[in-house]
Amino acid sequence: MKIAVGSDHGGLALKTIVLALLQELGHDGEDVGCFDTDSVDYPQFADLVCGKVTSGQADKGILICGTGIGMSMAANRHDNIRAALCSEQYTARMSREHNDANVLCIGERVTGPGIAEEIVRTWLSTPFNGGRHLRRIELFN
Ligand code: RB5
Repeated sequence: MKIAVGSDHGGLALKTIVLALLQELGHDGEDVGCFDTDSVDYPQFADLVCGKVTSGQADKGILICGTGIGMSMAANRHDNIRAALCSEQYTARMSREHNDANVLCIGERVTGPGIAEEIVRTWLSTPFNGGRHLRRIELFN
């Protein structure tokens, strides 16, 4: 799967871990930045990742900031983006099964690297259930 991955300075360290995991799992992770610890504005990276997903250049996106909150707010301003902020495996699974989330948001200052890796593994391997859930997400836009 082609996965666009972005962070701000608050998510940079976890982004490196997530990109390594994607490689280990056989996915094609594209790092859209940021690339160093200088302070940056997270909406710019949310826009880059969401643009990749909505244009079809990426199948899914992952966004990481300090809390994951700003990234999820910015991502969900985009049409056809369903971004889910997850801090444990249950919501990661449900965001795929019930909400067909196409962007995963994680907070580096909230979620440790081990849990974050489990969230990513679960999120990428869980299919959308469709059915009544499709009817509901079609009401979003
Ligand atoms: C940056 O300090 C921080 O505000 C950002 O990473 C994120 O947590 C915003 O929601």
